Amino acid sequence: MKKLMLAVGVLLVAAAPAAAQDAARGERLVEERGCTACHGPRGVSPVPLMPSLAGQQPDFITLQMILFREGLRQVPAMMEPARGLTDAQIQDIAAYFAALPSAPKPDRGPRNEALAQRGAQLSAARNCNACHLPDYSGRANVPRVNHQREDFLAHTLAEYRDNLRVGADTQMNGLMHGLTNDDIRAIAHYLAHRE
Ligand code: HEC
Ligand code: HEC
Repeated sequence: MKKLMLAVGVLLVAAAPAAAQDAARGERLVEERGCTACHGPRGVSPVPLMPSLAGQQPDFITLQMILFREGLRQVPAMMEPARGLTDAQIQDIAAYFAALPSAPKPDRGPRNEALAQRGAQLSAARNCNACHLPDYSGRANVPRVNHQREDFLAHTLAEYRDNLRVGADTQMNGLMHGLTNDDIRAIAHYLAHRE
């Protein structure tokens, strides 16, 4: 597994200096492949458990798409959309979504003050913002988690904890170790209710 991850890293570095990314080309690919049917128009997801992609870090999108394409992050729904894309096409798609504005979800539920406070404390104790940045917008391969759907956050954090989601590195798996489902619910609620 380690070797495969290394290969992905090399792939990504090799892809980086390719021709300039082209968001317009990315938009056409997104239309052809029907990404918005699941991830929402302009990357804001109205679908339960489906991640929003608007304003997401382009390096993160690129890396995740390569992981999907290579079968290293296993999500059945993403196998077909990622199939056969070149690294350059993936970078165009990433440029398209990264440039779309993210925003708090209009359909998120009401804020539960006690739950949000608990989530804030847990996040501070584990230094989540050291990597995801104080506004949680992320950088490079560290994803934006601000403006993400609460249900997807809770689902994916539990998957990290249970080692069902293993990314290009295992930092998140270690960080989630020992958290209960209630802890995770609180963190997801806190993150989803920031402005
Ligand atoms: C049939 C529905 C469906 C389609 C179509 C689809 N996706 Fe996905 N996508 C998913 C699901 C489900 C997940 C992962 C949710 C999870 O981890 O539980 C996902 C995850 C992702 C992620 C990782 C996001 C994150 O925050 O972890 C990216 C990037 C992504 N998709 C991009 C795309 C692109 C680009 C296309 C079009 C080429 C596309 N998707 C088409 C269902 C879909
Ligand atoms: C040491 C740096 C680091 C710290 C600290 C960190 N993260 Fe992460 N986080 C990452 C990286 C890198 C990824 C992408 C991993 C991958 O490829 O799956 C990630 C992924 C995520 C994702 C998945 C988002 C998506 O769209 O798929 C969530 C949610 C998340 N982190 C939340 C948190 C929370 C909550 C904390 C604190 C408990 C935290 N992170 C602490 C580096 C970090």
